[in-house]
Amino acid sequence: MKKITIIFAVFILSGCFDSDSSEKVAAKSIELGENTFNNNCAVCHGSGAKGLAKDWKKRQEDGNYPAPPLNGTAHAWHHSPEVLLQTINEGGVELGGWMPPFKSKLSDEEKQSLLDYIQNLWPIEIQQKYNDRFK
Ligand code: HEC
Repeated sequence: MKKITIIFAVFILSGCFDSDSSEKVAAKSIELGENTFNNNCAVCHGSGAKGLAKDWKKRQEDGNYPAPPLNGTAHAWHHSPEVLLQTINEGGVELGGWMPPFKSKLSDEEKQSLLDYIQNLWPIEIQQKYNDRFK
């Protein structure tokens, strides 16, 4: 009988934990994304993905465009998650840009966490529009 009570208690408890586990998973992914971003992307895209250049639409002295902000103030949120992942994987060289590819440098989990981190930086209205359109 004791055993059954314990099993029952475990069931109930795991039910409780389940109710907020998706939020916890999301928060963990955003945290991993922030670390991954700071270690790999901030050097060009700036801290908080705010960009480094005053005007990301203006060519640099070397003729290249600067890395754009990814925090919702530029274009990133117009692209589907698949397109954003492709940019992370392939970089921009094939399209005439200069972002390096991260295909073999980061794990799938890290890449997904980058998307979660970036999307979490966007103003809430943009996140909602994005989810309506792509999710
Ligand atoms: C060496 C500089 C550099 C690094 C490092 C870099 N990027 Fe980029 N990124 C760019 C540039 C420059 C562009 C614009 C396209 C191009 O020129 O290749 C860009 C474009 C992008 C875009 C498309 C934005 C849009 O509005 O369409 C995304 C998304 C992106 N980068 C994410 C990342 C992530 C995530 C990382 C880290 C894993 C990263 N970048 C690392 C330079 C960089």
